[in-house]
Amino acid sequence: MPKPVQVRFNINQPAIVNTQNHFAEDVNRGLSAGHKTVPPKYFYDALGSQLFEAICLLPEYYPTRAETEIFTQHAAEIIGEAPSPVTVVELGSGSSIKTRQLIDAILNRQGSLHYQPIDISPTILEQTAEKLLGIYPTLMITAMAMDYTHGLGSLQRQKSEHVLALFLGSNIGNYNPEESREILCETRNALRPGDALLLGADLKKPAEILEAAYDDALGVTAAFNLNLLRRINEELQADFEIRNFRHNAIWNESLGRVEMHLVSRIEQKVRIEALDLTIAFREGESIHTENSYKFDLDQISVMANDSGFRQHRTWLDSEKRFSCNLWIAV
Ligand code: AVJ
Repeated sequence: MPKPVQVRFNINQPAIVNTQNHFAEDVNRGLSAGHKTVPPKYFYDALGSQLFEAICLLPEYYPTRAETEIFTQHAAEIIGEAPSPVTVVELGSGSSIKTRQLIDAILNRQGSLHYQPIDISPTILEQTAEKLLGIYPTLMITAMAMDYTHGLGSLQRQKSEHVLALFLGSNIGNYNPEESREILCETRNALRPGDALLLGADLKKPAEILEAAYDDALGVTAAFNLNLLRRINEELQADFEIRNFRHNAIWNESLGRVEMHLVSRIEQKVRIEALDLTIAFREGESIHTENSYKFDLDQISVMANDSGFRQHRTWLDSEKRFSCNLWIAV
């Protein structure tokens, strides 16, 4: 009898048709409203995911570098404070580049690891898994190409294992306070007391720095934002004239968030064939495409308590731009 081959990679994803319908429905709802919006999760098609990777390399976009610095300096210490042994679930894993530093630290301690990344983009999950499996011979990956809620619902754990949930890169910043609370409570509900959540949260800072981070000189963030219109054109047979829109990023001080908009340069009509919908834009009217909330440390502890965790420890980068927070489920 041949020895069974150990399968180290599994990917779970809902039927393509299903995600397509959600995109169509959400675009329909968002662009028919008085205040036009499209949810930011739709940035991440194949091109959008690559553009986001490019954003992370920009001089103005400090969050990725700041968080990487924290892990370079403190990964062993952070993992030392987390329960053991663990399985790791990551919400919005993307390229998992920063995660490698944590995986290294975990493997130093426990030898093997079951890593369960959740991401909206199946292509990025496959590419990333292939790389990780090549680097780490004792890593097992169950990837989930779905929303956080569904991914958390199918989380696997061995009896002896704790769960370490990762919510890095200030992904939490895309959600308003009510939605954040909901996601954090859902995460808590997938955990048991003593399990942990490592939350990367970007900190408040002067408007000039924040606005430059979301409106870089090379125009990569502008391309990332405008790519949403290209995606609607391609997938929903629309005729957005992309040059008739411009990227806008503004720090909304009172709401504590950077907002991204696509602003119509002229009065115009756009046809979306797949939705049998024609949309009128006034000159200067915007599609609100993203919020990136910024936090202070007090707000972060309050969020922990409000969602069934206690703030255990916080690590900052040397310039105190970004925070990594280890929360323990109570
Ligand atoms: C991936 C949501 C954390 O809000 O900073 C980067 C996305 N948008 N530049 C962020 C993003 C524009 C990013 N998150």
